[in-house]
Order: sequence, then C-alpha cells, then structure tokens
Amino acid sequence: MTLSHLCFNMEKDDEKMNKQLRKTVIAGNWKMNKTPSETTTFVSELKDKVSGADCEVVICVPFVDLQNAIAAAKGTNIKVGAENLHYEKSGAFTGEVSADMLKDLGVEYVVIGHSERRQYFNETNLSVNKKVIAALEAGLKPIVCVGELLEEREQGITEEVVSLQTKIALMGVSSSDMKNIIIAYEPVWAIGTGKTATAEQADEVCGIIRGVISKLYNNDVAESTTIQYGGSMNAKNASELLGKYHVDGGLIGGASLKSEDFSIIVSAAK
Ligand code: 13P
Repeated sequence: MTLSHLCFNMEKDDEKMNKQLRKTVIAGNWKMNKTPSETTTFVSELKDKVSGADCEVVICVPFVDLQNAIAAAKGTNIKVGAENLHYEKSGAFTGEVSADMLKDLGVEYVVIGHSERRQYFNETNLSVNKKVIAALEAGLKPIVCVGELLEEREQGITEEVVSLQTKIALMGVSSSDMKNIIIAYEPVWAIGTGKTATAEQADEVCGIIRGVISKLYNNDVAESTTIQYGGSMNAKNASELLGKYHVDGGLIGGASLKSEDFSIIVSAAK
C-alpha cells in the first residue's frame, strides 16, 4: 500500500468519482523555445489536433510569444499561460513583467516556481509565495511547481521537501482561491533527463501533496485540486501516468514542442 492510499483511505468507487470531479489539465511549458512566428505556426497546427480534447489544454510560452499565442488560439479550446511574473504591481524593476500586464494581454495561466527558476534565478519558497498571491490578485491561475532534487530523494526527504514547498507557496491563499490553483509535482531529477518517475512514484508524491492540502484546508478542497505530474512525460508514458488516482494532468517540457507529440498526450487524458 502506498503512502497516498494511507492518507486517503477511500473506497475504489469514491476514488473514481473524485477523480472525475477534478479538472484534468495538460499544459506545455515551452521554456526558452520558439519565436513569435514559430508560435503562430505551432498553434495553427495544434488547434485541430486537440479540438475534441477531454481536458483543459494549455500552452505556457515565453513572454514575447504570448501575443501571437493568444491571437492564434482565439476561438479554440487552447488556453495560454506565461512562464513567470514579478510579484510587484509596477515600478522600477527593469526587465520584469507584472501580473496585471499578463492579465491585460489575455493570459490565463502562469507557471510559478519552476525548478529552473529556483536553480538559475534564485527563486525561493517565499518569492514563489509572493508570486502566487500576485497572480491570484490579478485573476491569473498559478501552476505552482514543487519537487525534490535527486540528493533529496536519495536522502529520504522527498515528503518533507515537497510538503514545505507546498505549504509556503500557499501561505495566505484562501480555500476559495484554491479552485484557481494547480500544483505541478516535478521531481527535478526527471526534468529533461528522459528519466521519468514511475507512475507509482508520481502517484505517491501527488498523494502526499493532496494530503498537505487536506491538512491546510479540508478534504473537499484537497479532492478538488488539480495536481499535475511533470518530468519527461511523453507520448509513450502519458497514459500510464495520467491513469493514476492522484495525477490530474501533466506539465510537459520537451514533448510539448511538437504539436503531434503534445496532442497524443492530450488524447491520453480521458
Ligand atoms: P521535460 O518534459 O522536458 O522533462 O520538462 C518538464 C518540465 O520541466 C515542465 O515544466
């Protein structure tokens, strides 16, 4: 029996019903890839491939690509997200972009606290929390990334690390705001390495995160929060990962850059 099942001692039928109630979200995170004109081409290729999707389809793209992505996605079921924001509303922060700027452009989602931003751009649990609050205040939907390093997994502290990241990210977030939040569990050792967490590992840690949300809020909030897995998810392994009880979607890097691969992942989400 996995830890997630100890946290949630539910009958199989209840599990099935709860999973159906949650929104499945398949989101691409392009990272620093594609120019604005490549963005327009990509969306025009993708739109017919995902028009019958059974889930929310999101592409999170570099700031300079947002306008083209939004224009090309107009009238389709593709939603657009940014990959970062600044937590201040405005002011002397050269090179930064605020939540209000993104909202005004028509952006709906924003990735916050990706491990690459934590690793290369000094993001901390506290700055992640400030960004989450700023995004919610502007009416954006944060996709909050948490996940352990390989050393942390080997040291047996995955649960502690991921719980701490989740608890701090959600400081000051009300239970009604939780319907606009997605948590993405991304084990850092699985990102861009081709080393996917097993479906059982992904389910276990997503279950731990759901347990944390249950303690912070209540079981209803926990059961209705979308928790994604990210880390080398691809057209081949998506359906096994997405079939797990606690895995409500994917945050996809490399495999989101090709419309064919991305659309196969979208169709794996049933
Ligand atoms: P890959 O799918 O390329 O491993 O990246 C995952 C990721 O970091 C998504 O945010």
